[in-house]
Amino acid sequence: MNSTLVEVRNLKKHFPSPAGPVKAVDGVNLKIEKGTSFGLVGESGCGKSTLIRVMLKLLEPTDGKVFFRGKDITGYGFRQMRPLRKEMAMVFQDPHLALNPRMTVFDIISRPLKIHGLARGKGELMVQVVETLKAMGLQTEHMIRFPHELSGGQKQRIGVARALVVEPEIIFLDEPTSALDVSVQTKILKLLDKARRERDLTFFFISHDINLIRVVADTMGVMYLGKIVETGPKEILLEDPHHPYTRGLFAAVPEPDPDKIITEIKLTGEVPSPVNPPDGCNFNPRCPYVQSRCREIEPELKELADGRSVACHLY
Ligand SMILES: Nc1ncnc2c1ncn2[C@@H]1O[C@H](COP(=O)(O)OP(=O)(O)OP(=O)(O)O)[C@@H](O)[C@H]1O
Ligand SMILES: [Mg+2]
Repeated sequence: MNSTLVEVRNLKKHFPSPAGPVKAVDGVNLKIEKGTSFGLVGESGCGKSTLIRVMLKLLEPTDGKVFFRGKDITGYGFRQMRPLRKEMAMVFQDPHLALNPRMTVFDIISRPLKIHGLARGKGELMVQVVETLKAMGLQTEHMIRFPHELSGGQKQRIGVARALVVEPEIIFLDEPTSALDVSVQTKILKLLDKARRERDLTFFFISHDINLIRVVADTMGVMYLGKIVETGPKEILLEDPHHPYTRGLFAAVPEPDPDKIITEIKLTGEVPSPVNPPDGCNFNPRCPYVQSRCREIEPELKELADGRSVACHLY
């Protein structure tokens, strides 16, 4: 039986700009069930990184709520968030920027253990650091290295090890492999998957790459211009995507199974600016099925009988 670990309701993050507020996240609703691997896919600029930052309270939301284990943490300040930082870890997109160049690998991985008081003495720290390095396919000798002495893939393994070492409940991963070669990506994704199964972890991945989400996720979400347009079990979405944007996005990716035909929708036109999103459904200027109500009424994210939710007037 699943239980909801993280939930966001009508979450918004608008950034001020001279042209008016940038509606980076604009009314997101989603639930992450414990033990699942949730993959959120969406094109560059649709608000994925901002969403993660607001969910983790690294940015203050403009509106809406964030719940962790059923508790409303929206108003939590720095001090109240501190114990939760152990439960909600994060892996950043760019391993070259995420690691302090002046710290050794040992210092980087042991730091969160020290901050959260999770190890007594250097011996215990050492044991936990070595064990986590091994889980990420690295050796003891890497402990004394500095980030500049490591490859991109090794750096990202350190980034993951730093998140894993405190045994969090959930790890948020922002494009964790997009800076790496494909062969390195696959290795890291396999290690992540293994760690998740062994430790009964929950993952929340975001990526612009459907193929990555296809591999790592069991639950999928599709984001467009600050909103979730479709979400549900991965197999259901991949087999029969409903939202015209989801269909367009999936059709743009080569389908490995040639017998499978998705009703093709070609995505045309540009993504509108998040400063001036269209009225009604914000996909309406690009949608081949647009009707007059789509230009006036914003569709709600509705749950269907098959377990998915979709925000489209066609359903
Ligand atoms: N601090 C900020 N101030 C103003 N606008 C911002 C800020 N951060 C992000 N934005 C804008 O918010 C929108 C969403 O950005 P975000 O980085 O969340 O997108 P993303 O989906 O993560 O994109 P990518 O795939 O390129 O990483 C973009 O239009 C971006 O320019
Ligand atoms: Mg991003």
